[in-house]
Amino acid sequence: MRILVLNGPNLKLLGTREPAIYGTETLDGIIARLRTYAAEKGVALDAVQSDIEGDLVAALGAARGVYAGIIINPAAYTHTSVAVRDALAACGVPAVEVHLSNTYRREAFRHTSLTAPVCVGQVMGFGGFGYLLALDALVQQVGK
Ligand code: DQA
Repeated sequence: MRILVLNGPNLKLLGTREPAIYGTETLDGIIARLRTYAAEKGVALDAVQSDIEGDLVAALGAARGVYAGIIINPAAYTHTSVAVRDALAACGVPAVEVHLSNTYRREAFRHTSLTAPVCVGQVMGFGGFGYLLALDALVQQVGK
């Protein structure tokens, strides 16, 4: 099984970015941990981070037939991007949305996710560990 892990804008700054909100683990650290966890379950990962909305849309557009599932943290595009939402809906690959922080405990503009309604489910508030939870959920979902 192969899974696509997509991370949106500013997530490459994890480690130093607002550590009180996002913790101190780097994105490379999160992906390495996830890769090890996934390998134990026989799952291979491709990980992409981009600050550019169109890159995320293009990666989603190429996902059909290649990936069994998608873990996506669209970051700020969660709250703004009809294009990422439409790409998720169009690709037909089950996706789980992840957020490091609990966006409902934050500013009101983070309470709306345009992307969550086209995902199987959402994991938030558990930092990098949320990516592991999302992988478990996705494997269970794909196996149904
Ligand atoms: C985030 C939450 C978003 O509101 C924010 O714009 C991010 C990170 C998270 O993982 O908690 O960049 O997606």
